[in-house]
Amino acid sequence: MYKAFFNLTRNPFDLTPDPRCFVSTRRHNEALAALYYGVRWHKGFVVVTGEVGTGKTLLLRCLLKLLKESKDIAYAYLFNSRLSPTEFLQYILSDFGLPASGRNKSELLLDLGQFLVSRGSKRLTTVLIVDEAHHLSDEILEEVRLLSNLETTDDKLLQIVLVGQPELDEKLDSLGLRQLKQRIALRAQLAPLDEEETRAYIERRLQIAGADPKHESIFSAGAIAALYRESGGLPRLINTVAENALIAAYARQMRTVTPDIIDDVAREFRLGMVSAGDSDKTPNNRDMDVQRAANILLDLFAALRKPRAGDADLDVAVALGTSEDEPYI
Ligand SMILES: Nc1ncnc2c1ncn2[C@@H]1O[C@H](COP(=O)(O)OP(=O)(O)O)[C@@H](O)[C@H]1O
Ligand SMILES: [Mg+2]
Repeated sequence: MYKAFFNLTRNPFDLTPDPRCFVSTRRHNEALAALYYGVRWHKGFVVVTGEVGTGKTLLLRCLLKLLKESKDIAYAYLFNSRLSPTEFLQYILSDFGLPASGRNKSELLLDLGQFLVSRGSKRLTTVLIVDEAHHLSDEILEEVRLLSNLETTDDKLLQIVLVGQPELDEKLDSLGLRQLKQRIALRAQLAPLDEEETRAYIERRLQIAGADPKHESIFSAGAIAALYRESGGLPRLINTVAENALIAAYARQMRTVTPDIIDDVAREFRLGMVSAGDSDKTPNNRDMDVQRAANILLDLFAALRKPRAGDADLDVAVALGTSEDEPYI
């Protein structure tokens, strides 16, 4: 209904994590690069953490989209992490198309090991991806550690990607999991967007939904500032408030979303508790960001120097279907 009113072809702030709606930001790009190259170059272990609603699941969907383009990659994708160790292995095996039901844990491990060795001998890539990994029990994390031990003299047989909320970092830092932590080759963190990123995010999502960039924006500058203030730069909250603001503007037959519409919507959702200052933009963290970005770049250069068969799509953003001249936020 409001789509026609605003000349849009689709709902711009749909909450489904759809790679077609991916908006390039520095942190999302860094994290996607860590995920993609970690898997492609057999780094073994990659961990991405971020608060709820920062875009972790969307990133994984983007990663899956990229991986699907390569015939030499098989992956198991797990998003229900509250499983027993046997269920966990059963789930992985059945995702790889191996028989899993009615088998005990040692049979499952044996089959999985054989599968990985056989794929490894053909230089094929096999990946285990776990979303919501902060829910994994210590028992399962121990299984993950054992799986990460499967390697030949020069290659890791299973690439493991763990994605979850910041508690995952704490879990991996805990004493009992030190061995697992030592195996992590790449780490990246997502955080809320800053104000400029929030503006670019809103504009880009509107354009993906058919808004004409040459026309005046549907959201006034003041509305975007209010949206940033109310959402704290969290993409999921930005989407919720922006979507409801569009509905409210349509109900009032207003072509432009104004700050008072944002305030009304935020009041309805009782968002006052979120503050933009809560994001981790302290100088210390910024230094760490620079360090992390440098590490990822070094990794990218190493990857570029060591091409692998079938690895054509080195530019992640281009491979995702965004155009080359589109600026990163
Ligand atoms: N970089 C981005 N580009 C486009 N949409 C994003 C981006 N980051 C987050 N979103 C959107 O924000 C919402 C929350 O993202 P999601 O991946 O579900 O977060 P998380 O898994 O971290 O809780 C989704 O609607 C998602 O599409
Ligand atoms: Mg998620």
